[in-house]
This record gives sequence, structure tokens and C-alpha cells, in this order.
Amino acid sequence: MSKTVTLTDNTTGKSIELPIQEGSHGPNCLDVRTLYKELGYFTYDPGFMSTASCRSDVTFIDGDEGTLLYRGYPIEQLAEESTYLEVCYLLLNGDLPAADDLHDFSRIIKEHSMLHEAVRRFFDGFRHDAHPMAIMVGVVGALSAFYHDNVDVHNPEHRRIAAHRLISKMPTIAAWSYKYANGQPFMYPDNNLSYTANFLAMMFGVPSEPYQPNPVFVRALDLILILHADHEQNASTSTVRLSGSSEANPFAAISAGIASLWGPLHGGANEKVIRMLEEIVHSDKSVEDFVARAKDKNDSFRLMGFGHRVYKNYDPRAKIIRKMCHDLLAEMGDMGADNQPLFDVAMELERIAMEDDYFIERKLYPNVDFYSGIILRAMGIPLNMFTVIFALARTVGWISHWNEMMQDPESRIGRPRQLYTGYRSRDYTSIEER
Ligand code: SDX
Repeated sequence: MSKTVTLTDNTTGKSIELPIQEGSHGPNCLDVRTLYKELGYFTYDPGFMSTASCRSDVTFIDGDEGTLLYRGYPIEQLAEESTYLEVCYLLLNGDLPAADDLHDFSRIIKEHSMLHEAVRRFFDGFRHDAHPMAIMVGVVGALSAFYHDNVDVHNPEHRRIAAHRLISKMPTIAAWSYKYANGQPFMYPDNNLSYTANFLAMMFGVPSEPYQPNPVFVRALDLILILHADHEQNASTSTVRLSGSSEANPFAAISAGIASLWGPLHGGANEKVIRMLEEIVHSDKSVEDFVARAKDKNDSFRLMGFGHRVYKNYDPRAKIIRKMCHDLLAEMGDMGADNQPLFDVAMELERIAMEDDYFIERKLYPNVDFYSGIILRAMGIPLNMFTVIFALARTVGWISHWNEMMQDPESRIGRPRQLYTGYRSRDYTSIEER
């Protein structure tokens, strides 16, 4: 006998049994698929705060505990032991790779890292002051015009190739977006370097002299990529799933995800956090003044990098990045000197907010974006590239969820309903009568 919840409509006295869908971890779900047919109601849930859109094995978050698992592995262990490329294999395939599997996967990703030369000319259509995220949205979407040979979304091999192409080409597109905005020559991938070192070399290398990525920065960025690789059904992943549910081209669906991530309430927050910290550092106002503004409903100012739809505890990723931030600045010494004031203000902001009833009552804690920007800034990565780095990292999460959806027998085209509050039917009037 399956477990159910009885729902009674007190306006008609009619009752129905709604099945309970049980997961392996976290809250179970009330299956409301028969609700409209049996009781004539839609569910109403703006922002989907209490709605599960799908089944998934990819990532688990416990917002109260501050837990994050990629395919069951705690983020703390992956951050300590793994590499971003190994995490890509894990998210895509469901298990950690054996040595040979990782070697083969790494070789395949290296082999796809170049872009079609016509894609290179696509950059020329952008203004030089274009935000690199705008360039990413355009260029990734344009990839759907370059791969016609294998885009049958129901063919597992075609999906695998699309996943590999996206993971391997995102660093090249990201680095070239930076180079184009700076009027510098594009650097081609160097397959002698690791995935993350290769990205730094394409970003900061120049044809006129050799460039060796700083190994401390390579490790710090690899960790940032691991922490941003996936995060369940967040806004951009849900955008990829919804656009992909119509069987659209995967490159176009990922481009839609990049567009959603760009928003300041989502992936765009890391850029906003640094602007906020810089404003505080250079302001004659105190940190307490800024916290007071964040609490003031009449002031649009919010503490960027604080709060989360799911985490009602400290974001585990923020904990890891906070320590990494501290260690990196200590290791950099004078090199990181102009970042230390930002880190000091961030820790002061965190301390004050965590003692303030407004933040405590609303369970507002630092999220992944609160400290990540300080590390990227210390590495010399410009502000407008922060969300590009987030998009680079999240590509594997997006494509893993897209791939899972395309194999899910329950998957259907996403088509939510609405609570209509507009005019009932009315008759057209001629312009003379208006
Ligand atoms: C990411 O979904 C994911 O998993 C996303 C992400 C991922 O990896 O994919 O984790 C990445 O996007 C992290 C979030 C980055 N965004 C920011 O840091 C922007 C600042 N944070 C907020 O805008 C907000 O907290 C959100 C958008 C993150 C969450 O918004 P919710 O869940 O819709 O919560 P809400 O806006 O309804 O806020 C609840 C209350 C409100 O107060 P009341 O109206 O109840 O009095 O908390 C207040 C809000 O005003 N509040 C804040 C605040 N965040 C929420 N007040 C001051 N500063 C803030 N940052």
C-alpha cells in the first residue's frame, strides 16, 4: 500500500488521496499530478519554494544542515581530495573514475578544447566594452550553429559528445571573451597544461613571451571551480532543464542557463559582493551603517553574498572558500596586500550580521559568492570575469542535469500553469468608441 496524503476540499467536501513520492535523502514529495483532474485546482508556488520539478541523482543539498553532496560525496572531501576535471567525470557519469577512465576523459577534453575558426570571427561582432557574460551567452548559443552532425538529443553518444565539447570549450570561450574585451590576441589552448592551468594561460598569456601559471593560483581556481560545479535545481539549472525539455539543441539550452546565471541575485552576486566591499572600504560610513541599510525596507541595498533560497545555515562552500581566502592572502603576503582590507571588511560584516536579529531570524548566512570574489580578485581576475568563471564551472552541472532529464522516462516538456487575475471575456470596441 503506497503512502498517501488525504486532501479534502472543504468547499465541496470532496477528498482525494495524493501519493507520497519517497526519495533517498531529504524531504519526500507530494505527487500532485492528479490534483487538477480530480479537484480542479492548480498548485500556486511563485519562485517554486515548495516545488520539486524532477527526480535527480546528481546533487543533494540539506539547507538546514548546510550539507552539499555531489553524487553522494561531501563537498568538503571533494574540495580536499579531488580536481575539477575529476569532479566533471563524477557529475557526468555518476561515479569517481578509475585511473584509466580519468586519463581517457582528460585526453578527450583536451582534444575538444579548440573552437572552429569561424567561431573566432563571431567575437568580432561584439563591441569591445561588451560584458564578457554577454559574449558567453552569444558565443555558446552560436555553437548550436556549428554542430549539425550529432544533435539527436535522444542519442546517448550525441549527448556525450555535446557534454565533452561544452566542458572543453568553455575555458577557451571564457578566456577569449576576456582577451577580446581587452583588445589582446587570442591564445590557443595548450594541451600540455592541466585544464585549469590551461584556462589561466589562455587568459593571461601573450604571444610575445612565455607564461607559466602560478601553481598556487591554479590550485585556488581549481577549488573554486569544484565548489561551483553544481547545485541541484537552482535558477540557471532549472532554466537549462526547462529550455532543454522541448528537445532544443543542448548548446542553445546551456546558453539560456548562462543568461539566467548572469543575474545579480544568482551568479552575478560575486561581482556585486566585491563592488559592495570596495564601497564599504572606501566609504566614510561604518560597516554597521551598511548593515542597517541592508535591514531597511526603504533602502534597496542588500548585503550581496548573504542569504540563500535553500541554505538556512552557513553555505558549506562559503566555509571552504573563507578558509582558502585566508590561506591564499597569507601565502601571497605583500602581493595580496590590497585585498586584505576587503577580506577584513567581509569578516567584520559577517561577524556583525551573524549577531544581528534581522539576519538570525531570516537565517541569512554568507553564501558561496561572499568570499569567492576576493580570491578571484587576488589572482588578478577582473570583476566582470567573476560570473564567467562561475558559468565555466557550472557548465558540467548544467549538462549533467540536461543529460539526466533526457534519459528520464517521466520527463515531459515543461509547461507551468497560472493563477489568472486578468479581465474576464470582454468585447472589442471600435477606436471611435474608446
Ligand atoms: C547563488 O539557488 C542556488 O543554489 C544558487 C547558488 C548556486 O550555486 O546555484 O547557490 C548561487 O545564486 C547564491 C545566491 C547569490 N545571491 C546573492 O547573494 C544576492 C543577495 N541574496 C538575496 O538576494 C537572497 O537572499 C536570495 C536571492 C539569494 C534568496 O532570495 P529568497 O530565497 O527569495 O529570499 P527573499 O528574497 O524572500 O528574502 C527573505 C527575507 C526578506 O526579508 P522579509 O521580506 O522577509 O522581511 O530575507 C531578506 C529579504 O528582504 N533578505 C535580505 C538578503 N537576502 C534576503 N536582506 C538583506 N540582505 C540580503 N542579502
